[in-house]
Amino acid sequence: MTERTSIHGQWSNRLMFVLAATGSAVGLGNIWKFPYITGENGGGAFVVVYLACIAIVGVPIMMAEVMIGRRGRQSPINTMRTLARDEKAGRAWVLLGWGGVLAGFFILSYYSVIAGWALSYVFRTAAGMFNGVTADGVQSIFTELVSDPERLLAWHTLFMVMCMVVVARGVRHGLEKAVRILMPALFVLLLLLLGYAYNTGAFDQGLDFLFTPDFSKVFYKCKILSGVESCRFDGGPMLVAMGHAFFTLSLGMGAIMVYGSYMPKGSSITVSATMIAVLDTAVALIAGMAIFPIVFANGLEPAAGPGLIFQTLPIAFGAMPGGHIFGTIFFTLLVFAAWTSGISLIEPAVAWLVENKSMTRVRASIWVGMSVWLLGLGSIFSFNIWSGEGYQLFGKTFFDLLDYLTANIMLPMGGLLIAIFAGWSMTRESSVDEFNMSFSLFYLIWRVLIRYITPVAVVIVFLNAIGVVDWLLSKNLLW
Ligand code: TRP
Repeated sequence: MTERTSIHGQWSNRLMFVLAATGSAVGLGNIWKFPYITGENGGGAFVVVYLACIAIVGVPIMMAEVMIGRRGRQSPINTMRTLARDEKAGRAWVLLGWGGVLAGFFILSYYSVIAGWALSYVFRTAAGMFNGVTADGVQSIFTELVSDPERLLAWHTLFMVMCMVVVARGVRHGLEKAVRILMPALFVLLLLLLGYAYNTGAFDQGLDFLFTPDFSKVFYKCKILSGVESCRFDGGPMLVAMGHAFFTLSLGMGAIMVYGSYMPKGSSITVSATMIAVLDTAVALIAGMAIFPIVFANGLEPAAGPGLIFQTLPIAFGAMPGGHIFGTIFFTLLVFAAWTSGISLIEPAVAWLVENKSMTRVRASIWVGMSVWLLGLGSIFSFNIWSGEGYQLFGKTFFDLLDYLTANIMLPMGGLLIAIFAGWSMTRESSVDEFNMSFSLFYLIWRVLIRYITPVAVVIVFLNAIGVVDWLLSKNLLW
């Protein structure tokens, strides 16, 4: 096959792909979402399942996405169309690209609202609002912010404009350079927070919560029925853990695929994917280790939900010397982490508009950005005027629903289909050619994982969550 080239350009060198993809992967998912869903889902056992999903499901699918992207060299929609034709697979595969674009819109719409919280915290810390603050004080500052739709709207708008500007300029100018300094800086500040957490007096308790798995507590729901305790297996937390593995690695919607399409031919997909996954996981675990000791030392609730980091970290900054400087830097870096992730959520859609509607990148970014901005209003209202039960579906607000639908359903579904396409629809020759692996044992391991283990794992977690596994067990149909 003749080598394709991308009309959108290429990363300037091999390392840039890793940096850009790490920029996409490391974001609010690691620092905001991972701690709060771990808190909501009971800690250690949840973390174990999450780590297993990163290794068994995340890394193989990331390799598949990069491989497909680099072979197709277009937006995910056109890449899927082209490769399905090359491989004589069905034309319906193009729908995978469309699903990804939709998921990207959905995710960025609420992601931007949360990034807006981080933006506003940059100014709050800089103004010294948290100096010497108590846990109650932090709580009320947070509540005051989220209950004001106008303020949230202003921050959401600012963040969306930031994303639009970068995507409009093309990823190569600007962000590539910023990521190189900002990502290591974020890492250093997280270590500083970790140092603070170490001295809170509740460090052991925090580590224990995070790393001592108690599977019976997390995966079984027990009820006392007429004096007898009856427990059933609950697959819900497992699905949340798997969904988060997709979310945090930016998998299942074409973001990594489109970044892969700008990757130079010579770089190793295996090495890159492993590096990205390791860095991403390290950031999440360090964030968790910094946050939970603060939670326990201040008698806060680990299951506080989406506000968790905004109600814990300011306490640390308020108490440490120079905290308002560090705090300002920390939230600034968090905004940057969110920024480098946000752009990857709309890049697939923008690339498609440029390819198929012959729009300029600027126009395409404006169209996409405005649609996402509009959808974001729903998430803004979820925290105030639509927070009441009258506006909820299945006990979830619009924000909760979007988050659940994307992270726990759309991304794993997308990932499953990517695994099937890479493992079964593409010929062995094609994937061998694209991986260009000198050491074929790695290829063999990947192939077994992507054809059998990964898809089966995703399906089992799904069946689990809708209760099928529990039902089979109760009927003694499994063993
Ligand atoms: N991975 C990012 C985070 O953890 C969010 C993100 C960026 C994402 N691009 C994505 C999630 C694509 C799913 C799909 O914050």
